[in-house]
Amino acid sequence: DRSLRIAVLGAGVVGTEVIRSLVTQEGDLSARVGSGLELIGVAVRDTSAPRDSVIDPALLTSDAGSLVDRADLVVELMGGLEPARTLILRAFAAGASVVTANKALVAAHGPELYEAAEAAGADLYFEAAVAGAIPVVRALRESLAGDEISRVLGIVNGTTNYILDEMTTAGLAFDVALGQAQELGYAEADPTADVEGHDAAAKAAIIASLAFHTRIPLSAVACEGISAVTKEDVAAAAESGHVIKLLAIVENTAGGVQARVHPALVPTGHPLAGVHGAFNAVFVESESAGELMFYGRGAGGRPTASAVLGDVVAAARHRVHGGLAPAESAYAGLAAAPSADA
Ligand code: HSE
Repeated sequence: DRSLRIAVLGAGVVGTEVIRSLVTQEGDLSARVGSGLELIGVAVRDTSAPRDSVIDPALLTSDAGSLVDRADLVVELMGGLEPARTLILRAFAAGASVVTANKALVAAHGPELYEAAEAAGADLYFEAAVAGAIPVVRALRESLAGDEISRVLGIVNGTTNYILDEMTTAGLAFDVALGQAQELGYAEADPTADVEGHDAAAKAAIIASLAFHTRIPLSAVACEGISAVTKEDVAAAAESGHVIKLLAIVENTAGGVQARVHPALVPTGHPLAGVHGAFNAVFVESESAGELMFYGRGAGGRPTASAVLGDVVAAARHRVHGGLAPAESAYAGLAAAPSADA
């Protein structure tokens, strides 16, 4: 049995953390999969740019296409539509499975990617594309697949939640709070995507598609950001017992599935009102399970890498075993519990 060959495309903040885990936790991850995992290369635009020392320079290549052709598992962390889309299709064509954190790509080309994966007998995983570390994609795709979801309310953009929270609790001006969010590394390269709600809208399109087993394109998501929200609005909301949150709202109505992103008045007693800082939360209302809330870090290198690594393990297990890992590898690495009479 040879090791599973993993190619990483992109070595930015998230890519570097994914590589760190693949290198430093190789033994544990391999045991959980039940097969060796070999990082065979890291595709970057500029191989001579300075990098974290955890990345072996010998692994770097600017030829992403050739790297993809040699991989069993491709981890796409470049972001943007192209060349990510072409490389993922190339990976599927070669029979590899793909893990991606690329919400823009999944929102814009999800169906095309699913079909290519299916045609190749490969898999597409994208837990990190929605709400970073929070396992909401898997929850909607798998855990709730037997239920009927009626509505999902999400705080799915950490930058805007941080800004609104700082405006509410510290009385900061919008620009100051945005500058802090950028310094903390939550914001997109162009924070317009955060502030105007485009990042949340891409996540809303993905959530709506998963929750309602349909295809909701990004263009169907009505979108209003927070750039017009003032300190006065925030104060007036507080006086009436509300906080302003940028919500992604997707619901199954008599008129069909609706998806939208806009600043909303959330009563202070609602669980979403207690989501502070750059945290994300996804509140699900379903027929049988009732109300569920998923909460955690929706941005940042290590939290997002956690979701990517979970997908890597899941994808690798599926390739090796056709499902979850067998019992002996699921428990590998755990010391046996001491017996009661020891
Ligand atoms: N800029 C995004 C956020 C990062 O602030 O939530 C994760 O998509």
